[in-house]
Amino acid sequence: MSDSIVVVGSCMIDFVSYAARLPKKGETIHGTKFVTNFGGKGANQCVAAAKLGGKTTLIARVGDDVWGERYIANLKNQKVETKYVKQTPNFSSGIAQITVSETGDNQIVIVAGANKELGIGDVEMAKSDIASAGVVVMQLETAPEVAIRAMELAKGICILNGAPGLRQYDPRLLKLPTIFCVNETEASEFTGLPVTTKQEAEAAAHHLISKGCNSVVLTLGAEGALYLERNSNCVFLTCPAVQSVDSTGAGDAFIGALAYLLANNRKLPMESILKSACFIASDSVTRSGTQISFPGQEILSRCT
Ligand code: RIB
Ligand code: NA
Repeated sequence: MSDSIVVVGSCMIDFVSYAARLPKKGETIHGTKFVTNFGGKGANQCVAAAKLGGKTTLIARVGDDVWGERYIANLKNQKVETKYVKQTPNFSSGIAQITVSETGDNQIVIVAGANKELGIGDVEMAKSDIASAGVVVMQLETAPEVAIRAMELAKGICILNGAPGLRQYDPRLLKLPTIFCVNETEASEFTGLPVTTKQEAEAAAHHLISKGCNSVVLTLGAEGALYLERNSNCVFLTCPAVQSVDSTGAGDAFIGALAYLLANNRKLPMESILKSACFIASDSVTRSGTQISFPGQEILSRCT
């Protein structure tokens, strides 16, 4: 059975510069290549699920500029339902200034633009689609209250990707999602704890559960991920070693895959679903860009 996936979140135009390394504070360096891509965590996660064959709908805002038009065309190309993706008068599309180093590391500054206008009204309008979705996915590049409202309306599985991380937040952001998913930096922001080792990651996950999370997925970059459910033990998932070309959006590939797998393989144990999501995210790291680097359905037969 295939359940529908609704993603509530951001669309950004990624302006990506590739350079040998990331610049230091106050430093100017020569880059080697420049490209523009369709990005933004919300759209990335939605496209990741769509490319795997998921039935996806995105709720988002783009600008009333040429980028907004192109963005909607891109989503249609990827077979994402766009009836709730609105061009917003007098706002520019969200943009991300990204630098990627030779080792595949990145630095990102986002200017949210039209994404800031995504409001509670947008999710109310999509009420019935949210309520009937098997999986609803949110992030924090759009307003937290929008994510909260979407989770209140949802009846299926809710995945909140706490990205970018917050130091101060409404406790419902931890309590409402079925799965709260963050990377090490975001986990550190949400908990105020250092998260640089597996032990620290495990402690942070326990802290998040004590604050009200139902379950936590903490992604650990090349180390894989950990999963902690309330009243249960921590499970570590590894991912295959790959040659990292561009890790931008790997977290989005992971979440999109997680959403797809939960919507289509309800019976599989969480551990094997997460292992497959790690596998799919690692694969995306071997190619440049975010959405353009995400694998299609053919990868599913290679996941075990
Ligand atoms: O997670 C990667 C994404 O973060 C990029 O596509 C960029 O747009 C930023 O939102
Ligand atoms: Na990539």
